[in-house]
Amino acid sequence: MWTGSITFNNQLAPQCLHMAVRLPAEFPDPVPGQFVMIRPAGGDGPLLSRPLSIYQFHRNQDHAILEFLYRVVGRGTELLSRLTPAAEMHILGPLGRGFRIEKTRTHRILLAGGMGVAPITFLAQYLKGQVAGKDELKICLGAKNCAEIVGVERIKDMPGSLNIATDDGSLGSCGLVTDLLPDFTQGCDPRKTMIYACGPMAMLKALAEQLAPTGIPCQVSIEERMACGVGACLGCAVTVHDRRGKRVKKSVCKDGPVFNIEDICWDQL
Ligand SMILES: Cc1cc2nc3c(=O)[nH]c(=O)nc-3n(C[C@H](O)[C@H](O)[C@H](O)COP(=O)(O)OP(=O)(O)OC[C@H]3O[C@@H](n4cnc5c(N)ncnc54)[C@H](O)[C@@H]3O)c2cc1C
Ligand code: FES
Repeated sequence: MWTGSITFNNQLAPQCLHMAVRLPAEFPDPVPGQFVMIRPAGGDGPLLSRPLSIYQFHRNQDHAILEFLYRVVGRGTELLSRLTPAAEMHILGPLGRGFRIEKTRTHRILLAGGMGVAPITFLAQYLKGQVAGKDELKICLGAKNCAEIVGVERIKDMPGSLNIATDDGSLGSCGLVTDLLPDFTQGCDPRKTMIYACGPMAMLKALAEQLAPTGIPCQVSIEERMACGVGACLGCAVTVHDRRGKRVKKSVCKDGPVFNIEDICWDQL
């Protein structure tokens, strides 16, 4: 467990905040798609730890900075939203298995719905140092309306094209973020392509159906509810197909949160 202090906790949009926490320099390098369990120090203890994906990570000589983007949906996130700079935080992590980067997949499509933009931005930042000259990178963000599209300023500085879709057409194309996909996948070689996605479960389920006939591989980060965050309580079980096609239970916190989209038994969710 790490102890850090908030450097800022700013509102970006209604119910959506951007927080940075300063941690000791020994905090390990996270990989995109990993998350932490975070809570204010003191108070009600571990019951208030909440999982948040890592949005950005920076390291200086004497400290590390973790950034988060989060939406206020209930008690835990409401409590986080009221914290001010210098507040002490307890952080467990980095946790879970993040996105896998295969160098041979030179055509990468990053798809984020809502707060899924947090791990997808970290992945884009990570790829910035990895993408070779001819590699293709497309980033697609989706939300209900323009007020809910957050993090664009940060992602604009990343390599690759940025494409936006909103349900009401108030920014970018009118429709779902998954509607953007056919334009980018048409005629692409599934052996050289990888889609990375994070967003609401309904979006990921629709994506699984859309991709099934195409053979294009996709890794999804599942942001299901969690309790312990370390594989001890079975509170985040998901059913997946193992290598022999048998249905088995896996923990999102320990075996995920990133899974291959075709491994997940979507009928069980
Ligand atoms: C690996 C992982 C990474 C995550 N990363 C982020 C992130 O970067 N930014 C962010 O805003 N959120 C993220 N979440 C979701 C976040 O953890 C929850 O929104 C938070 O725990 C809710 O706590 P609460 O006490 O505020 O709400 P609660 O009081 O626990 O719940 C309030 C309402 O929100 C619903 N809810 C709670 N958790 C979830 C969930 N995981 N998905 C959908 N609905 C939920 C409940 O059903 C309830 O209706 C992540 C979740 C996981 C598992
Ligand atoms: S949250 Fe406890 S096992 Fe995953």
